[in-house]
Amino acid sequence: MSDTSGAMDSQTRAKRNAGYYAADMIPDNSIVGLGTGSTVFFMMERLAERMGEGLRVTGIATSFQTERRAYEYGIPITSLHEHDHIDIAIDGADQIDPQFRLIKGRGAAQTRERCVAAAAEVFVIVADEGKLTDWFTAPVPVEVLAFAVPIVMNGLVALGGTPVIREGVKKDGPVITDNGNWIIDCTFPHIENPEELQCTINAMPGVLSCGIFTEFTGKTSIVVGTSDGVEVRSL
Ligand code: A5P
Repeated sequence: MSDTSGAMDSQTRAKRNAGYYAADMIPDNSIVGLGTGSTVFFMMERLAERMGEGLRVTGIATSFQTERRAYEYGIPITSLHEHDHIDIAIDGADQIDPQFRLIKGRGAAQTRERCVAAAAEVFVIVADEGKLTDWFTAPVPVEVLAFAVPIVMNGLVALGGTPVIREGVKKDGPVITDNGNWIIDCTFPHIENPEELQCTINAMPGVLSCGIFTEFTGKTSIVVGTSDGVEVRSL
């Protein structure tokens, strides 16, 4: 595979460095959770390269986007029905706080991402350093049954949030997730207690999953990409 990293901007180089490093962490003969997003794409690029050198892996994709990329790269895909134990899951994030709590879901894939993270023994987050934050400021994506959107909007307002239905691009009306649901992006002025907010939102009738991830910190490593390398962080 030719090295095109010189022509990339520094953020893209950082993502590539993180993705490539994480792909090198994957053991032979493993079941790998494949996250969603541009940093994971770099991980899959390097994974395909390693498979060409003899590495044997099977992936579980967290989105249609990732599944399609896996087909392109020749990465065999399985499901949680066949493999309910994942050796290592590698995923991106939108924000990462110092305790390794995350906001995810920019790509509307957080429900499957949460399932894959839950089934994984080891959870590796790949991100450029711009994702690191002292406190969460990103909107919290919430996947919701279309039927329940009004009551979830009311519930989020009652929590002090400002919910907005995510609109499609090149598609009129709401984004429809890979699971057939809608996404509400909810901004909060200050997220004091991410664990509590996650539990409260996830318990609302009609909510599939919100993008706050606080329950995996004990098995999480962060591969932070910079323009000229990586820094690996564990708690
Ligand atoms: C997908 O829904 C998200 O959780 C992604 O993992 C996240 O948006 C990271 O994407 P990038 O690596 O493209 O920033």
